[in-house]
Amino acid sequence: MSARKRLVVGNWKMHETSAQAVDLARAVLAALPPLDARSRTDVVLAPPFTALPAVGVLTAQSGVALGAQNMHWGESGAYTGEISAPMLLELGVRYVILGHSERRRYFHETDEEVNRKVRAALSHGLTPIIAVGETAEERDAGATDARVVAQTSAALDGVAPAEFARLALAYEPVWAIGTGRNCDPTEADRVMACIRATLPGLERTQLLYGGSVTPANFASYLAGENCDGGLIGGASLDAKAFAQLAALALDAA
Ligand code: 13P
Repeated sequence: MSARKRLVVGNWKMHETSAQAVDLARAVLAALPPLDARSRTDVVLAPPFTALPAVGVLTAQSGVALGAQNMHWGESGAYTGEISAPMLLELGVRYVILGHSERRRYFHETDEEVNRKVRAALSHGLTPIIAVGETAEERDAGATDARVVAQTSAALDGVAPAEFARLALAYEPVWAIGTGRNCDPTEADRVMACIRATLPGLERTQLLYGGSVTPANFASYLAGENCDGGLIGGASLDAKAFAQLAALALDAA
C-alpha cells in the first residue's frame, strides 16, 4: 500500500450556477460512500467561485473538501476580476487547482505565473493541485516528457522539498481533456513516473491523472504505481459517476 492517500477532485469548470451547484453537491454527497478521517481517500469538489459559499455550507463537516479552480498570487490589490488566497480561505476552501491547461491556453497563464500562485497558495496553507500536460502536437513531436518535466520544475521553482507532501500534481494530457480519448493507462503511468522523477522529494506528492476519466476506465489508472487519484471534469458533473469514482479510489486505497 502506498504511503500516499488517494485524492479524487471534481473540477466543475464553468458549469453550474450557485443554485444548480447546490443541487449537484447535495446529489454528490448523498451518493458518496461514507468518508471519515480514517478514509485513505480525500475527495474535493471544485465549483465555480460564485458557488463556493453555498457548496461550502454543504461540504462543511461532510468529509468532502472544498476546492477553487484558480486564484491570484497577491494578498489584495488593484487586480480587477481576481480572487486572492485569503478570500478563498474565508470560505473554507482548502485546495486550489493551478495551471490548468484551459487557463494556460485561453488566459495565457505562463509557467512563471503558475509558480507565483503555487508559492502563494502554499504560504497560505492551501493545497495546490498543479496541472501539467502536453498538447497533441507536443506528443506527436516526441516532446511529452520534456514538456511535463519543464512545467513541473517551473511550477515548483523555489518551493522547498519539505513542502512536496503538501501539494498535488495532475497529469492532464491536453488532447485527452473532454474528448473521450483517455490516455492509455500504462502510458499515463509512464509519464507520471517522469513527473515524479523531476525533483527529489516528489515521491511524497499525490499524483493524479485527468482526461476523459470515467467509472469504466478509472481503476486502470489507479492500478498504476504512480497514480494516486484523478482530476475529473465531465464525470464530476454526474453525481452517480463521481461517487463511483470516489468509491473506486477508496477500494484501491
Ligand atoms: P474531462 O474529465 O472532462 O476530460 O476533464 C478533465 C479536466 O480537465 C479536469 O481538470
